[in-house]
Amino acid sequence: MANKKPIIAVTGATGFVGSNLRKFLVEQNISVTSLTRKKSKPFKSEKNMQFADLDKISNLKSDALVHLIGTGAQTKESDYESVNVLQTQKAIQLCKRSNIKKIVYISGLGVNNSTTLAYFISKLKAENLIINSGLNYTIFRASYIVGPNDPLTQNLTKQIKSGTIVIPGSGLYRLQPILINDVCKMILAATTNKKLSNKIVDLVGPKTISFENYVRKFNKSKAKIKKIPLEQAYHTALNNPKKALYGVDDLSIMIGDYVSNHKKLEKLSGIKLKTL
Ligand SMILES: NC(=O)c1ccc[n+]([C@@H]2O[C@H](COP(=O)([O-])OP(=O)(O)OC[C@H]3O[C@@H](n4cnc5c(N)ncnc54)[C@H](OP(=O)(O)O)[C@@H]3O)[C@@H](O)[C@H]2O)c1
Repeated sequence: MANKKPIIAVTGATGFVGSNLRKFLVEQNISVTSLTRKKSKPFKSEKNMQFADLDKISNLKSDALVHLIGTGAQTKESDYESVNVLQTQKAIQLCKRSNIKKIVYISGLGVNNSTTLAYFISKLKAENLIINSGLNYTIFRASYIVGPNDPLTQNLTKQIKSGTIVIPGSGLYRLQPILINDVCKMILAATTNKKLSNKIVDLVGPKTISFENYVRKFNKSKAKIKKIPLEQAYHTALNNPKKALYGVDDLSIMIGDYVSNHKKLEKLSGIKLKTL
């Protein structure tokens, strides 16, 4: 029983983390059910459940729910409260209805009780709903998760194609990227490893790097690198969001310079993290 493979359900299954996680789990011969609001082609051996409202899902057979629904930018149709908070409330109810004992959630690195950033507040509220739910939980507070088609890579690739990469402000603020493959391993570990039960753990890679150095390493084709004043970056983000290279909250998180110690993650999971 102790070595039995878990059955895992995934919300936010169409997203960057969700797609990579499902592929990883299927390759490990784990039974996966993806929950999607749009029609989505399941991997071979994977089940797919389409939903209009998480509250309407019944008969979900799973040992754990990996809840990946989330947004990092608000619009009038999709704000933090309705996505990050309300959908987490619904995910918890789904677990209770379906007798799923374990929930794994990805919050953000930098979330804390005194935060004033709207994105972090919504993540904190989601965390608190999970902690008070009575479910067994693992909450990962993630830095930038990187791998094929991650949002940062997509953004920088697009900028390279345009000939110039823009660095807002000094570029000295740091990030601590973690590889998507390591994230998938951690999520799987969280579903069974008791050491990760009822814990909040920072999901960070083994090395910190300044944004400028990250961009310089990324910029293999040697596009021009241009620093712009922060005021200009925020002004575009606020007044011309469709054209902005970095959103308002993206900028705040970047400037926040959120880094952590990866040792706790390695110790609890027993998994050695890979450097980029
Ligand atoms: N990627 C990172 O570096 C990173 C870092 C820190 C935290 N996180 C957190 O990790 C989680 C997954 O991130 P990701 O990068 O995979 O995000 P993503 O690519 O933006 O995917 C978001 C997922 O949420 C779903 N979704 C959004 N609004 C929804 C709604 N109202 N109802 C139902 N589904 C909805 C999307 O479904 P549709 O396809 O139907 O739109 C999509 O499957 C998120 O909670 C994110 O905040 C990610």
